[in-house]
Amino acid sequence: MTVALLRLDTISQLSVPRGSTYVKSGLRRSQDIKTETIQAHLGINANQALKVIARAEPVRRNGPVSDGSRFKRVGIVNSTASPYKLERNVHSPIIMLSLQGKVVLITGLGQTSDEGWGIGAAIATLFSRQGASIFGGNRTLASAERTKERIEKEGGICDVVQTDVTDSDSVKALVDQCVAKHGRIDILVNNVGRSEPGCPATMSKEVWDGQIDINLNSLYLTCHYVLPIMEKQGSGAVVNVASIAGLRYIGKPQVAYSATKAAIMQFTKATAVIYADKGVRLNTVVPGLIYTPYTKTLAQRYDPGGDEAVYMEKRDAQVPMGRMGDAWDVANAALFLASDEAAYITGQKIVVDGGITSSTGRV
Ligand SMILES: NC(=O)c1ccc[n+]([C@@H]2O[C@H](COP(=O)([O-])OP(=O)(O)OC[C@H]3O[C@@H](n4cnc5c(N)ncnc54)[C@H](OP(=O)(O)O)[C@@H]3O)[C@@H](O)[C@H]2O)c1
Repeated sequence: MTVALLRLDTISQLSVPRGSTYVKSGLRRSQDIKTETIQAHLGINANQALKVIARAEPVRRNGPVSDGSRFKRVGIVNSTASPYKLERNVHSPIIMLSLQGKVVLITGLGQTSDEGWGIGAAIATLFSRQGASIFGGNRTLASAERTKERIEKEGGICDVVQTDVTDSDSVKALVDQCVAKHGRIDILVNNVGRSEPGCPATMSKEVWDGQIDINLNSLYLTCHYVLPIMEKQGSGAVVNVASIAGLRYIGKPQVAYSATKAAIMQFTKATAVIYADKGVRLNTVVPGLIYTPYTKTLAQRYDPGGDEAVYMEKRDAQVPMGRMGDAWDVANAALFLASDEAAYITGQKIVVDGGITSSTGRV
């Protein structure tokens, strides 16, 4: 028997083949299913829809699913021509790391050129490949549209809006537009961040404040608007992007960056505990030295007029694995933390650094 599992709220975005029968649902109460939704998509009348609902029963996929989302799944059986990517035989292994039907809000998914991959762009693209709908906010709309184009070329769904993550009204508008389009937010990825050189003696107050704004206040703002939505849903996952500069001195003076990235990890832990019993998880991905288009900017910022190749070689040499990581290394860790496979993980961090923070630095 072929079974397609999908979230109830995504039914409205998909064309459910006629003749499909909803036989299982993980809803706590059968009344939670909207009669009109089932009517509209199965082309049946209200009485028939009510009968379908009455037959709903909890989904058990190889035992209990512990993330709370079982209460929002519906199974469709006997569909002859299922259009769902997640279609699978019940006896086959579980598809890992699926984000099918999930709505992802991500900041900083922009890409200034077609060359290479920024971390936000890679996360958005990977999450889309896993079945999620992407809704992104980025400072420069043109760079966000480049990522949107890449995702849509692969058949994914991505909307982008111009957003300044340091501005409360702008972040609220981003969140509102995502909810207006999708009705929910399942995953929030806080990716925007920037490093400016300096120690307290050399750094101007403007630079210091700017670092706090972009690296830390931005997280407060997105969480301020998104967490109440996730709490109401009873489910959600937040992935924050920190840096190993928040764990170690990594060879260049960037005290504000280090301080804010360390703060992100503790912000995540403390908030994770508060939200642990509300079905909302928060975790951090902690990249080491990663090669992205932004890394080229860093070369100029930290070694003005210097040879970019030498700067990159130095970064490679700092890593026990002998090379910088790339945006996909970070995206893979973010995907795990956002996925249902990490359903029992909250307040944690995954360090993606090729071994740097495990070494003494004398490699
Ligand atoms: N690259 C590394 O080696 C590395 C290492 C550790 C941690 N990280 C962290 O990983 C994250 C992503 O880094 P990345 O290298 O992928 O950077 P990136 O390529 O520069 O991407 C950052 C994105 O954020 C956008 N952005 C900047 N300021 C914004 C604002 N105020 N509001 C909204 N969007 C804004 C940029 O938009 P524009 O198109 O306008 O520029 C850009 O698209 C950052 O948090 C960074 O600290 C990076």
